[in-house]
Amino acid sequence: MAVDTKNGSKTSHKNVQVVDHPVVQHLLTRIRDYQTPAADFRRYSLSLSQYLVYEASRLIEYRDVKVETPVAEADGIALKDYVILAPVLRAGLILAEAAQKILPAARIYHVGLKRDEKTLEAISYYAKLPESLPPDSRVIVLDPMLATGGSAVAAIDLFHKLGLKTIQLVSFVAAPEGIKRVHDAFADVHITVGSVDKCLNEHGYIVPGLGDAGDRIFGT
Ligand code: PRP
Ligand code: URA
Repeated sequence: MAVDTKNGSKTSHKNVQVVDHPVVQHLLTRIRDYQTPAADFRRYSLSLSQYLVYEASRLIEYRDVKVETPVAEADGIALKDYVILAPVLRAGLILAEAAQKILPAARIYHVGLKRDEKTLEAISYYAKLPESLPPDSRVIVLDPMLATGGSAVAAIDLFHKLGLKTIQLVSFVAAPEGIKRVHDAFADVHITVGSVDKCLNEHGYIVPGLGDAGDRIFGT
């Protein structure tokens, strides 16, 4: 897929969906702005989350069903039963809040990961998964920022180790470095993003990005 955004370089990424809808790009612009107050940041992030998850959920399989309307029989579909939402704490909670509205039957497994500020490697502090999950489950990992990719790879790995192979990732903003790291480890993971930005800075922050997503969402 050809990716060409104002904030990023033109690159070619397979398995990356950039949602270029003007409403999505408007919301992303609002949350990029450092002057956006915390309350507005949260409100815009929640709306953005809804649109990104909606787009990502196109990939969910479905089966044909028939229903009786008050007038006649109609053809319809039913979404696949077993969808797992995996928000990466803390910032992924905002995506989970939106995703739960769109996919109310989905199971939610929280994944606690924190980047070490020096090494930038993800440190796991919470993961409570069952010993097994239905092997045909679809997992949607939710994390607004895909920077070095360490957190996303660690989260995906938890489900991969349980034998789950259909895994997606939804992020507001990704760095090319993070996309590469995810796809080097798990080539089949489909990534839905609002933007592929330019690069990472020396502190592992996405440039231009939006700063620290967790801090801005929670006002810390
Ligand atoms: C942020 C963000 C991602 C991670 C991305 O979380 O929400 O989880 O960094 O960086 P990576 O791709 O380099 O791993 P952080 O570790 O700051 O925790 P927080 O959400 O609790 O603030
Ligand atoms: N985590 C964030 O919250 N922002 C970044 O730019 C990188 C990692």
